[in-house]
Amino acid sequence: MPRTVRGAIPSPNIWHTPHVYELENRAVDPGDTAGAAMRELRPWRGATVLDIGCGTGYHLPGYAAEAARVIGVEPHRGLAAAARRRCAALPSVEVREAAAQDLPLPDASVDVAIARWAYFFGPGCEPGLRELSRVVRRGGAAFVLDLDASRGAFGRWFQRTVPSYSAPEVEAFWDRQGWLRRPLDLRMVFERRADLEAVLRIEFAPEVAEQAIAETSGLELAYPNVLRWRFY
Ligand SMILES: C[S@@+](CC[C@H](N)C(=O)[O-])C[C@H]1O[C@@H](n2cnc3c(N)ncnc32)[C@H](O)[C@@H]1O
Repeated sequence: MPRTVRGAIPSPNIWHTPHVYELENRAVDPGDTAGAAMRELRPWRGATVLDIGCGTGYHLPGYAAEAARVIGVEPHRGLAAAARRRCAALPSVEVREAAAQDLPLPDASVDVAIARWAYFFGPGCEPGLRELSRVVRRGGAAFVLDLDASRGAFGRWFQRTVPSYSAPEVEAFWDRQGWLRRPLDLRMVFERRADLEAVLRIEFAPEVAEQAIAETSGLELAYPNVLRWRFY
């Protein structure tokens, strides 16, 4: 059986080293600035929340603390299984093996859809946007949180790792889709220097990672992100 369902976009950081990605998730945004920004725009207490590309389900328990129902969708079978294990004691959470382009959900069944660093990277994600329009109810919202590659050292290291990535093209794409945006100055805060270095090594090409490690002192990293959203 293939390791992923059709439509999965290779995500080497979490696919190959989920334990290091877990350290990254623990380090990112200790004050939950991103969660607060989303909840301010569209609260989800008592609502149905969909996490698209939920990986090992790191964020699902947090959503379940307020939502009535949480659905995690993840195309990598091993990660979907890990997400299920993480949420085994949470009856309001279910995890489905599926991709953003083909959501296993009825029309108008979701109040808030959230994708963190997953699939909705710009041109090419139109099939997923069509699925969002189908599954999100009127009065609902969709959020996409992603790295802002146009800003900061983190953006520069990313651009060097993925030279084909064009931040202006991505921006123009979301403009055309009519989505709103807000920059978020997130941080990663680590407990151990070894964890920070391991995370930089799964995020960047080897020579870029070594430079990023040399340029970073201490246990913290600026992680410029952008929150994008639309209401339905
Ligand atoms: C960088 S990880 C982020 C995981 C999770 N959102 C988190 O914050 O821990 C990107 C995730 O997107 C998933 N992914 C890849 N292609 C996808 C697709 N077509 N639809 C939905 N998710 C996808 C990957 O398998 C991976 O789990």
